[in-house]
Amino acid sequence: MKALLLLGLFLLPLAAHGKVYERCELARAMKRLGLDGYWGYSLGHWVCTARFESSFNTSAINYNPGDRSTDYGILQINSRWWCNDGRTPRAKNACRIQCRALLTDNITPSVNCAKRIVRDPNGMGAWVAWTKNCKGRDVSPWIRGCGV
Ligand SMILES: *[C@@H]1O[C@H](CO)[C@@H](O)[C@H](O)[C@H]1NC(C)=O
Repeated sequence: MKALLLLGLFLLPLAAHGKVYERCELARAMKRLGLDGYWGYSLGHWVCTARFESSFNTSAINYNPGDRSTDYGILQINSRWWCNDGRTPRAKNACRIQCRALLTDNITPSVNCAKRIVRDPNGMGAWVAWTKNCKGRDVSPWIRGCGV
């Protein structure tokens, strides 16, 4: 019992610091947050994009030397336009969030910001991984067997 409590205390802070989603777990979470059909993009497009952007890892961080911006989280949201990390030149923070909020195990901030991003004229073309791997494809395998 005491050992279990100690284990819990150890794992609790880790939970807030990101996790790697299982495919169907992510599909269900995204559906619950209203992404299925959002701006005309079926759920498979969102799961496919997350797979090729972050491998479903909410802790994913990638630096872009070109404009010295950084991409954050499961949907690799960029600090030049969408979130604030305090170190990106000419940053806009259009989603009005701290980039580190995109790295926690709760995908709600990433989904809310993604809804803002996809409303721009390029739609999901904002994600290079979508254009390369999901656009114009049958994305139904990404939600197959998930009960969504
Ligand atoms: C998730 O991403 C973080 C940050 O890059 C990395 O440290 C961690 O090993 C990744 N997890 C897995 C399971 O790949």
